Amino acid sequence: MSGKKNTAAMILAAGQGTRMKSALPKVLHQVAGRPMLWYAATLARKVATQTVAIVVGHGSEQVQAYLEQEKADFEPFEVVIQEKQLGTGHAVRQAYPVCTRNDANQADQFLILNGDTPLLTQGTLASLVDYHQSEKAGLTILTTVIPESHGYGRVVRGQSGEIRRVVEHQDASAEERGISEINVGTYVVDASFLGKALSQLRPQNAQGEFYITDIIEMAVQQGLKVAGWVTNDYLETTGINTREHLAIAEKEMRRRICQRLMLSGVTMLDPERVIVDDGVEVGRDTSLYPGVMLEGRTVIGTNCIIHGNSRLNNCLVGNNVLIQDSCVLLDAQIEEGAVIGPFAHLRPGSVIHRKGKVGNFVELKQTEVGEGSKVNHLSYLGDTVIGRNVNVGAGTITCNYDGFRKARTQIEDNVFIGSDVQLIAPVTIGEGALIAAGTTVTKNVPPNALGISRVAQINKEGTAAKRREILSSSSAAHTQAKQHDDPEPSSLGSNLQQKKDPV
Ligand code: UD1
Ligand code: CA
Repeated sequence: MSGKKNTAAMILAAGQGTRMKSALPKVLHQVAGRPMLWYAATLARKVATQTVAIVVGHGSEQVQAYLEQEKADFEPFEVVIQEKQLGTGHAVRQAYPVCTRNDANQADQFLILNGDTPLLTQGTLASLVDYHQSEKAGLTILTTVIPESHGYGRVVRGQSGEIRRVVEHQDASAEERGISEINVGTYVVDASFLGKALSQLRPQNAQGEFYITDIIEMAVQQGLKVAGWVTNDYLETTGINTREHLAIAEKEMRRRICQRLMLSGVTMLDPERVIVDDGVEVGRDTSLYPGVMLEGRTVIGTNCIIHGNSRLNNCLVGNNVLIQDSCVLLDAQIEEGAVIGPFAHLRPGSVIHRKGKVGNFVELKQTEVGEGSKVNHLSYLGDTVIGRNVNVGAGTITCNYDGFRKARTQIEDNVFIGSDVQLIAPVTIGEGALIAAGTTVTKNVPPNALGISRVAQINKEGTAAKRREILSSSSAAHTQAKQHDDPEPSSLGSNLQQKKDPV
């Protein structure tokens, strides 16, 4: 970061977000798989040298629980509770004493940012801080010129372009509403000015709130230099107040993620239809087909192909893996060279070792498939460990639940399981055993044994032919009887006859 100035940061995240029409606090709504507050918190932590204070209020328990859960990403920080959300100025007033009480070397300046502006980049923030310092300003605000300025605070400039104040939409005159330069809600303020200015804030405006923006006019009146850093990228400054804004931010964030991945060597057939969460990693020469969703902490290796409409959440995928169309993989691990799908469902705790294959309409839960083993068609396997080079036949099912408890199935190396087998857990199939098709396995099968549980087959010579004879003669008699009752068939016949002759 620039300069030697000590910078503390405040993130305003206490508002309800009424316009979101949601039970969830606004700052916990997600953008590219992370609550928008995460972006503000990580950014502030990168730029600030001193305390980062996060002001929470509406839904504070939920917001605090989230901060606690993800704290490793933006530690250290202080949580400040704003009991009543009386406005952005009031929020800063709550954070100020917290930022000034602890630091051995006090902050020279404060970076203040809204918690609802997740697209803001570190580059822009760094430029803002640099500009503040190079201009020797007392207060610098981030602004942009936006085609649709409705709802934002407008930047009112004087004759020679100097910033005079920011007027909120609700308080603006018709003329002021015509101003297209808006206040982004990101400020750098000198410490020497901020404390006193906060104590002078009054809620004298249309919303009856304490506006942080009022300190701009105060600074001007006190003869302090007020600077404005104008960014060209107005999309980056989008403040999220509604679900529509949320969708705009989502789209832009995903565009950035896909762009970054493509630059690092990932192929996307249609990047607009690939959905990758922030934080997901994808290796070189991997191809992502339309409709792929990579969520959470998913990591994909190099040279993989992931076909259309497959969704991976918190999955670890090795190199050279092929995932066919329409798979759902959750908290699963897939090692090098494995082949999954189409239409496979891997539920949490599934591990597919090297070159394993899990095919069509197979569901796995807490199941390990050993190296080179195959579960190719129409199976459910739960709480199962499968060794190497095992073939699980089509339609094999583990009966792992007795209505009370889950039980485990173990299938050792080189086992061959025929089609349509039920394995009633707990049960172990010893190494090299063979299970006959259609078997219901109720007890352990020793190594190299054949397990079979079928009623012995008997063949009755000629029975099929006799049956056919009986049934066909009785059905002929039935048809005759029906024709007798019903004159229709003959008239139908003559109709057909008529149709045959062209008129
Ligand atoms: C604010 C600015 C406006 C700017 C816009 C940019 C003010 C008065 N207005 O308006 O000039 O153009 O942001 O997006 O600052 N918050 C609190 N405590 C409160 C109220 C709000 O922490 O008591 C937090 C909110 O959670 C939110 C942020 O402050 O993250 C901004 O609040 P919001 O109500 O969205 O302000 P805007 O009306 O968008
Ligand atoms: Ca806002």
